[in-house]
Amino acid sequence: MLRTNTCGELNLDHVGQTVTLCGWIQKIRKLGGMTFIDLRDRYGITQLAINSETHEEFAKKVEKMGREWVIKVTGTVTERYSKNKNIPTGDIEIIVDAIDVLNESAIPPFTIEDESDGGEELRLKYRYLDLRRNPVKNNLIFRHKMGIEIRNYLNNIGFLDIETPFLIRSTPEGARDFIVPSRVSPGEFYALPQSPQTFKQLLMVSGYDRYFQIVRCFRDEDLRADRQPEFTQIDCEMSFIEQEDILNTFEGLMQHVFKKVKNIDIDPIQRITYADAMRLYGSDKPDLRFGMEFVELNDVMQHKDFKIFNEAELVVGVMAKGCAHYTRKQLDALTDFVRRPQIGAAGLVYVLCQPDGTFKSSVDKFYDQEDLKKVAQKAGAEAGDLILILSGKTEKTQKQLCELRLEMGKQLGLRQAGVYKLLWVVDFPLLEWDDETNRFYAKHHMFTAPKPEHEALLDTNPIAVNANAYDLVINGTEVGGGSIRIHNRNLQNKMFQILGFSQEQADYQFGFMLSAFQYGCPPHGGIAFGFDRLCSVLSDTDSIRDFIAFPKNNSARDTMVNAPAAVENSQLDELSIQIKK
Ligand code: AMO
Repeated sequence: MLRTNTCGELNLDHVGQTVTLCGWIQKIRKLGGMTFIDLRDRYGITQLAINSETHEEFAKKVEKMGREWVIKVTGTVTERYSKNKNIPTGDIEIIVDAIDVLNESAIPPFTIEDESDGGEELRLKYRYLDLRRNPVKNNLIFRHKMGIEIRNYLNNIGFLDIETPFLIRSTPEGARDFIVPSRVSPGEFYALPQSPQTFKQLLMVSGYDRYFQIVRCFRDEDLRADRQPEFTQIDCEMSFIEQEDILNTFEGLMQHVFKKVKNIDIDPIQRITYADAMRLYGSDKPDLRFGMEFVELNDVMQHKDFKIFNEAELVVGVMAKGCAHYTRKQLDALTDFVRRPQIGAAGLVYVLCQPDGTFKSSVDKFYDQEDLKKVAQKAGAEAGDLILILSGKTEKTQKQLCELRLEMGKQLGLRQAGVYKLLWVVDFPLLEWDDETNRFYAKHHMFTAPKPEHEALLDTNPIAVNANAYDLVINGTEVGGGSIRIHNRNLQNKMFQILGFSQEQADYQFGFMLSAFQYGCPPHGGIAFGFDRLCSVLSDTDSIRDFIAFPKNNSARDTMVNAPAAVENSQLDELSIQIKK
């Protein structure tokens, strides 16, 4: 080893020892006859001290050095006169006896400090420098700890870590695939897996009844803060189980991870049906750190002359406790918020429950005090509270009010960092209908089994069929999803039919699955968690990028290696690919 110690471990216990440290120069300071260097490595920062009078030669050497140079120093650990209480090594410094340059550094394009002066794009381009910064480094250490604890838990209860291929075949459902051309089979393509779904099911057929993998998945979809084109799943599958077993097993995983990584004992995980989640929060991933449940107001608001409400399928509100003091300006801002194109509401109706017991609303023309009192009663509002109301088509209005609820939660400080509300959303519908393509799509995926008691409805009323499918939601983020799978060939075939596949198409795309189902497929089910998302949610941040060593930017580019990029014509020729000009 070139060094005896790291820059993060020395303290008063080491005073008098001769040590050798290696690291990057964070800062050089001159104070009178002394030169001080902050030397940084992965573990911390240690101050080096050079007396320019007694060690002139060292001081001269240092004059030529700059930020991010890599050096090696030997010296004696000494107690400092002026201590720095902010860092663990702040009680000591190293009186330098030898100093060597291991490598020079160009001036970095941004400061390697906790609060850097570099913008995000610049830091992504020089990600290897950004990774030197504490906030990014700590995120990667956090991710590492999470990964280890997840493996420990699953290993201890008999899960086997088995790898599945990355070069697979493209499937028509789900997000867009990333496609890889084959050289040896001209005109044919592999696809990168969106998840190991089919392979983990085949492993169940093979008898590996508890499988897991922390595995990269690839989806060519539009990016958001919580989506990357390549991301990591904690992918799990079990045989001879029912939904309850999966929920319990992975509730155990969450308990373990929260305890080990955050020292938090989580409450038993609440459950809500998909239907209730939509009705009460307008979302299948509600943030339950606060209440503000939706209140349907059709019966108390649809009997007057207010045409907009009378014509609406749903009139629905939320009550904001203690917000009757909201000014006209604040209410207008909320109206603007719901009118933004991303939300798309036509307007917002409010009812202020004034401290004197009277009501004031934006629709006073249509509703008298008695009417508004009924609205307040229905909404559980008291003097001092505010009711915000939207109307329109059910699904659309629920989504709009969901955004407003989250915004109010934010404004009122109810979405607190450090508070974690875990929730199982269960009983998802099996299918959803798409008006544009005029066909059903699988809500989770096409291997999800209908609830046994709903199977008969597949022939008569498919949209009413629910599945044993479940999501794990933490603080309003979907961190995982899974289901009990179809393990019967005929039922799987039927599902393909409902999804609009002809028998030929089903055989062509999924013949291997249908074939495997003939050879003793056990009842099975599973779940996959978004590992990046889990890390970000447990760290109270929105962006999963912060937990990925080398992420893509918003245009799915890696600006550091500059990918995607054109390739040589010769490579294209080898792959039998012609680029359309
Ligand atoms: P699903 O598609 O719900 O299920 O994905 C599981 C979890 O993966 C995370 N996730 C993502 N994270 C970051 N970027 C993305 N682009 C992205 N897409 C998904 C989410 C999500 O909950 N095979 C099934 C699982 C199963 O049924 O067992 C599947 O992939 O946190």
